[in-house]
Amino acid sequence: MTLRPTILLVAPTFYDVSYSINPWMDPATWARDPRGMHRHARASFEALRQALEAAGFAVEVSEGAPGQPDMVFPANAAVVLDGKAVLARFRYPQRRGEEAPFAAIFEGLRARGLIDSVITLPEGCYQEGAGDCIWDAQRGHFWAGFGPRSSREAADAMSQHFGHDVVALELATEQSYHLDVCFCPLAGGEVLYYPPAFTEAALGALRARVPAPLRIEAAEDDLRHFSVNAVNLDDQVVMTRTTPHLRAELGRRGYRLHEVDLSPYMLSGGGAYCMTLRLDRASAAARRADAA
Ligand code: ARG
Repeated sequence: MTLRPTILLVAPTFYDVSYSINPWMDPATWARDPRGMHRHARASFEALRQALEAAGFAVEVSEGAPGQPDMVFPANAAVVLDGKAVLARFRYPQRRGEEAPFAAIFEGLRARGLIDSVITLPEGCYQEGAGDCIWDAQRGHFWAGFGPRSSREAADAMSQHFGHDVVALELATEQSYHLDVCFCPLAGGEVLYYPPAFTEAALGALRARVPAPLRIEAAEDDLRHFSVNAVNLDDQVVMTRTTPHLRAELGRRGYRLHEVDLSPYMLSGGGAYCMTLRLDRASAAARRADAA
């Protein structure tokens, strides 16, 4: 099955910031003007959809579920590669109610031929989807974050399910609670990352695999703008409004930025990548089988 670059989004109908499970989440600010915030969130969502389409993606929009505001972050719903979706298991009770509605969404995608198979992980191991398990198309392996949310064992489970190497990186801070907050592989082989987010061992593993000229170090200001949390397709990059530093650095390397005001989602600790899930990613092995 070959899909064009396709992204799943979840509509913000039930979005709000009403609890706090990461240090960026700010329910008090949301509560000061919930209607205004929601209006802003809907406008930001539309702007994101348009930016993704302008960058070359087909966009699928699913409905969320009442009482599950963080479903707007489908990056956490599953890991998808070669037509296979492995559904997430959430660490916090606040998000566990997303597992059933996301399972239904993935069944629907399977029925429509957008996914071939849907797999459920055994209980007792946390894995928060593509937010903590990122496919590196240039290197042909996953990078998995663990610590604040996903368990270390989840990295091995992913390796077994997909038949590809998984390089596990321990996250050292609650600020970078998912790998996608502090780590982003790009199409040219570069890796955009925020060094203080990682343990020494994780930094060693990262630097052993990515040579210095391909490492783009984000500054704290870049992290606070959720600029590392970016969506990349070839030379196109979709992200929140970024910093002069990253705008210049990515521009110098030939990337074209689509910047979107995602401030209502940053209030929940999310940026552009968290709000998306790629459905079409294929490993080289699968692409060869497809062509045969
Ligand atoms: N409020 C959500 C949480 O704490 C934000 C998730 C953002 N997703 C991500 N992949 N970083 O779980």
